Amino acid sequence: MADEILEILKNARSVGVLTGAGISAESGIPTFRGKDGLWNKYDPVDLATLDAFRGNPLKVWQWYLWRMWLISKAKPNAGHLSLAEMENLFPAFLLITQNVDGLHRLAGSKNLVELHGNIFEGKCRDCGKVFEEEEFSELFALADRKRLEKMSEEEFKKVVLNGLKEEELPVCPICGSIVGPGVVWFGESLPEDALERAFAFAEKSDVFFSVGTSAVVQPAASIPLIAKRHGAVLVEVNPEETPLSPYCDFVFRASASEVLPGILSSLTE
Ligand code: NAD
Ligand code: APR
Ligand code: ZN
Repeated sequence: MADEILEILKNARSVGVLTGAGISAESGIPTFRGKDGLWNKYDPVDLATLDAFRGNPLKVWQWYLWRMWLISKAKPNAGHLSLAEMENLFPAFLLITQNVDGLHRLAGSKNLVELHGNIFEGKCRDCGKVFEEEEFSELFALADRKRLEKMSEEEFKKVVLNGLKEEELPVCPICGSIVGPGVVWFGESLPEDALERAFAFAEKSDVFFSVGTSAVVQPAASIPLIAKRHGAVLVEVNPEETPLSPYCDFVFRASASEVLPGILSSLTE
């Protein structure tokens, strides 16, 4: 099976990839729906929604800063790094991720769409202004990935969980509202330009990979099916079965950090 997909890849002109929390699991970031899933511990209704933020911005920011602190310790793994290298092997390549951890950026991926935003960015939900990672860390020093990475757990708990006050939260320089995390919340729509770019690329992919996603959350979950409907060879990389599995031409029932380096080395030997 692997030889067949390798032959197809060697002749492919455009390759698309959709990734989910599973590719970052081996970097130590819990997935959402797996056995140690993040949502199992917290009720996202309390935290990952606009209502929660309006009601208690400090509590929502403390939760997100905790996730950012955890994520700041994570490094890209072999799966992320392989995808960054694969980008240069094809005339057209697009990496579409649902992850907000920024690990694909750190791994060096350039042709990248972050469908659900990036946890180190900021978004003002009143005037719509999005603050890129660098700009946001100037507005909100605590949100700086490098600063969080250096913080020990006790320092983090002292400064953020016990010390942070609402008046220290980032204020939008345009409209004066409190700026929230730059991720897409339950019920919010995804950044239109990101979604359009992802759909358009899926329609012209020769090969499309679904890596480390349970393929249950819309609209991301429909992207691999759009590729398939437009003639792409569909490949899944996931240790578990998903609703997408029956539609796949090839399935690697293993982890991304094993499978992707293997594909990369076969393509470059
Ligand atoms: P959902 O099923 O309600 O739909 C997602 C949103 O995307 C909808 O509100 C809609 O506005 C938009 N949408 C759906 N289909 C679309 C299409 N075909 N074209 C354009 N827009 C479309 O999702 P949800 O469970 O309410 O969560 C909303 C989004 O936020 C999801 O994508 C989810 O993955 C994401 N999310 C992110 C985090 C995070 O921390 N990154 C946490 C929770 C949810
Ligand atoms: N390699 C590949 N896949 C893996 C690995 C691994 N090492 N470890 C776990 N997986 C798989 C699991 O089998 C599961 O199917 O990754 C998938 C993770 O699924 P979810 O936790 O549902 O994460 P995801 O699909 O990204 O969720 C979609 O929902 O809550 C929202 O915005 C959030 O972006 C997220 C979206
Ligand atoms: Zn604003």
